[in-house]
Amino acid sequence: MIIAIDGPAASGKGTLGKRLAAHYGFRHLDTGVIYRAVAKVLLDGGADLTDEAQAVAAARELDPGIFGDPALKSQTVGDAASVISAYAQVREVLVSFQRQFAAEPPGAVLDGRDIGTVICPDADVKIFVVADPEVRARRRTLEARARGEDADEAQVLADILKRDDRDKNRSAAPLKQAPDAVLLDNSNLDIEGGVRAAIEIVEAVRAGRRRV
Ligand code: DC
Repeated sequence: MIIAIDGPAASGKGTLGKRLAAHYGFRHLDTGVIYRAVAKVLLDGGADLTDEAQAVAAARELDPGIFGDPALKSQTVGDAASVISAYAQVREVLVSFQRQFAAEPPGAVLDGRDIGTVICPDADVKIFVVADPEVRARRRTLEARARGEDADEAQVLADILKRDDRDKNRSAAPLKQAPDAVLLDNSNLDIEGGVRAAIEIVEAVRAGRRRV
């Protein structure tokens, strides 16, 4: 079984993906990490992010070994990831890695922006996670502070809105809800409430109780 979770920045889809995978005993891929890994290599090398050819070259040399690097979580890397992920050729290079991951047994949960629309259009269950921008900014700020980073909530909100705009309005695989995805608004849910709601969606779709 493949579960596709998409949604905007800081919507909580990563945590949901991880928790759903643990619940079902599936493998989990936070696909944002892929774009962040490519972006970090470019930033570390002092590359010009507007140079698409360099971004494509970095994507071809993707090293999954750095996926666990905590530096990938920073706002700067996330912002750079949003820029380079808009390049169609960068996305193309990264498609097969994601599809291979999804295809391996016993099942997989992938979260990102285009999983239900482009990477796994035949996913068994698709969930589109949203939350109010103010709520997302609050959560992101608290997370950053917990990591010991200095975070200004108004600035985080501005960054989230800018990123949403870029991710939704790019021509290559823009962030959008697949027609057969179930919407999950977790603005008023805590993590446990969100996980319960997501499991209910998976169970309802699997049982055929919910036609999406
Ligand atoms: O989910 P995230 O914040 O880690 O993602 C970082 C950036 O990567 C995001 O702003 C857009 C890009 N991204 C993408 O284009 N497609 C995905 N499937 C996942 C992330």
